[in-house]
Amino acid sequence: MSRKLICLCNLVGEHEIEAALRKGAVTSDQVKAITGAGTGCGRCVPALEKMVAEHRRAASLQSKLFPD
Ligand code: FES
Repeated sequence: MSRKLICLCNLVGEHEIEAALRKGAVTSDQVKAITGAGTGCGRCVPALEKMVAEHRRAASLQSKLFPD
């Protein structure tokens, strides 16, 4: 199984970040607290924030298409 690393400082992969988002994290600070990503040199923070923004857009679209 391939594992795309997002945060090299803390060895946090894409899958860990996606799991944090699925569990309810909605901000990059929450994802950082859960996974540890972005808490070292900070170089991965733009990629982390991009994943958070994409997740938020997808969730917004889903709620528009499938309202409760
Ligand atoms: S690469 Fe993520 S904090 Fe350094």
